Amino acid sequence: MSFLGKSFLDTDSLHPEQISILFDKAKKLRSKPYLSPKGKTVALIFFEPSTRTRSSFEMAAVRLGCHVLNLDPTRSSVSKGETVLDTVLNIEAMGPDCMVIRHSSGGVPALLSRNLKVPVINAGDGMRGHPTQALLDAFTILEERKRIEGERVLFVGDISHSRVARSNFQLLSKLGATLGICSPSTLIPPHLAAKGFKIFSKLEEALEWATVCMALRMQTERQESFQVPSMKEFSARFGLTPEKLKYLSNEAIILHPGPVNQGIEISQTVMHDPRTKILSQVRNGVFVRAALLSEILGVEV
Ligand code: CP
Repeated sequence: MSFLGKSFLDTDSLHPEQISILFDKAKKLRSKPYLSPKGKTVALIFFEPSTRTRSSFEMAAVRLGCHVLNLDPTRSSVSKGETVLDTVLNIEAMGPDCMVIRHSSGGVPALLSRNLKVPVINAGDGMRGHPTQALLDAFTILEERKRIEGERVLFVGDISHSRVARSNFQLLSKLGATLGICSPSTLIPPHLAAKGFKIFSKLEEALEWATVCMALRMQTERQESFQVPSMKEFSARFGLTPEKLKYLSNEAIILHPGPVNQGIEISQTVMHDPRTKILSQVRNGVFVRAALLSEILGVEV
């Protein structure tokens, strides 16, 4: 049950009690000043671009009084042909206490963790998972809606290629939310209907049903071919606009893991709608990640 010294690779293995421990600690950290230096180092190794996750882990580590070692693989010896495993083994030999790893291929953080002695945190692996994003999303739902059990959480957009959706499906169903999806049929994994997801073809009906709406970016970098007739058509049917939001309750919230493609899955006006909590997600992410790091590293809060 304890996170101490262990890797954190997916949401599937999380027990609801562990989630409560993390969320309670995240709340505690939010009201605390930065902690004094702890003599611990967190290595951030991102083999794929990131704005939010990398900076959020860096802020989280700094808040806990940890040092941060930032490796930029595009400037590392990976670009000279060194393997990913050799790179992380060399970083491990320098003595960090934990490694936060992102990679464009699913399973790489798990594979590396089996070859490393230090704990590894999965910061997103291909289309497979983004467990800390799901944790901060669940924390934001709890903060904004005061519960997760019984919430009707709608995912809109590219479900097939979204690691955020996969991790959220695992975590939120474990916590008792009902899940719905609204997406072009080419972007819905066929097995989801069998798993009890509510599937909507009309966004208006989906928004009337939802208490939480999470918009997802069209992940063109992961699609083998373009899977909707045009971005304009996708946006007209599945984009969140002020007209579409008339169907969403005033008490509901809108989330997006970022990066946002304004004008495609979400309009600029909707970004400023009071129901939109995207920057709260980002803010919460620092404390949720700090809570996770403190548990894994054994940093007293
Ligand atoms: N949400 C998220 O993973 O964003 P980044 O790609 O900027 O880290």
